[in-house]
Amino acid sequence: MEKLIIKGGTRLEGTIPVSGCKNAVLPIAVAAAILGDGVSVLHNVPNLTDVMTLRAVLQGLGATIKFKNSTLYIEPINHLEHEAPYELVRKMRASIYVLGPLVAKLGKAKVSFPGGCAIGPRPIDLHIRGLEHLGAKVMVEKGYIYAQAERLTGTEMYLTGQHGPSVGATANVLMAATLAQGTTVIRGAACEPHISDLACFLKAMGADIEGIGTSVLTIRGVKQLRGTEHTVISDDIEAGTFIVAGAITRGDVYVKGITHQQIPAISEKITEAGVELDWDDNGVRVTTPREIRGIDVSTAPFPGFPTDMQAQVMGMLCLASGTSLINENVHTDRFIHAAELNRMGADIMLDGGKAIINGVSGLSGAPVMASDLRAGAVLVAAGMAASGETVVSRVYHIDRGYESIEKKLNNVGANIKRVKD
Ligand code: EPZ
Repeated sequence: MEKLIIKGGTRLEGTIPVSGCKNAVLPIAVAAAILGDGVSVLHNVPNLTDVMTLRAVLQGLGATIKFKNSTLYIEPINHLEHEAPYELVRKMRASIYVLGPLVAKLGKAKVSFPGGCAIGPRPIDLHIRGLEHLGAKVMVEKGYIYAQAERLTGTEMYLTGQHGPSVGATANVLMAATLAQGTTVIRGAACEPHISDLACFLKAMGADIEGIGTSVLTIRGVKQLRGTEHTVISDDIEAGTFIVAGAITRGDVYVKGITHQQIPAISEKITEAGVELDWDDNGVRVTTPREIRGIDVSTAPFPGFPTDMQAQVMGMLCLASGTSLINENVHTDRFIHAAELNRMGADIMLDGGKAIINGVSGLSGAPVMASDLRAGAVLVAAGMAASGETVVSRVYHIDRGYESIEKKLNNVGANIKRVKD
């Protein structure tokens, strides 16, 4: 395993480029490999372990996929296998995205039940319910999900659970509905930017979709989808992470390749904390002329404040003057990073889904452990702001969602070394 050794007290200055959006690439690659009847080319694809893991899953199903210079060449599966094995699916929950497309294309699927992870049990009842609405017979046995249907049939459904809309279930059902007979209406659909990007990709393949960007998606089934070429949107969460890194080190960074409308809530909340964000058409300049103020943050589905930015903003608020409150409303167990930040001298108290952060004057470097990709990212940001040396272990979590994080940060003044653990 590898770890990052971070020398603290560095002020970031310069331009940080944002890569393609991980959570858009994953479902889009599935759609291209399983639903399409021709080669697809995806541009602006980040070189992430999650992308490589999904590539292995899709190649296991029979697709031919090449990755070169941030471009994925995807030759769909002609003799489609219908089974996604445990040893690959367990590595990445997003492998569950193959379930709906396999049933739509092949009429059957056998996919390992995805594991939970550090941020909660991660159930898939909405995925299953959505496919059953489309007429699939689904059963779970010995850790596998078996789904089959002669041909899926469009219908109306409401696809929101107790924690709000589901990104994954929306993606799964949306992809399956493109080849179903008749019209499907998904009410309570997730409308994150990556779901809109997936829907735009499916339309470019020939799907008939209305309501993109809203919580009501109407899909008229078609017989066939063709291959197409697509440039993936930039990663809103990576951009938000770099904005926090600039703020927490009181630097002056330009985060390039993100638009305000992709991250309205992140921009709003970070500005409320006293950070200055100067937007232009290609990105945003981040400066922190004044003290960071304590604020209250509640995570919510888009366009609310994204749960995937909760850890990062917690790290920034550790150094605020005053007290902040964070309500984590999307995932049931997403505060593991609080204990690691407290090891660095932060003052965070947890109470169920709430975190109370009393700002401190400074953090001190310490050995800490990444528990998921966003928790890892906040430990890197905190390490850069802290005095002394921070060692972040289990860096593989970070590499799942951040392309060469230390290279991008060292280019703007950080002092981070990657070493074998
Ligand atoms: C996606 O996960 C993202 N992953 C997550 O990002 C992100 O945190 C999450 O959406 C919320 O935005 C990818 O896109 C690959 P959900 P997903 O289904 O689809 C509950 C990251 O950091 N739920 O929107 O698994 C669920 O437990 C990762 O990049 C059900 O109850 O999330 C959660 O509380 C971490 N039943 C809530 O809904 C279901 O069938 C939202 O989950 C599905 C979900």
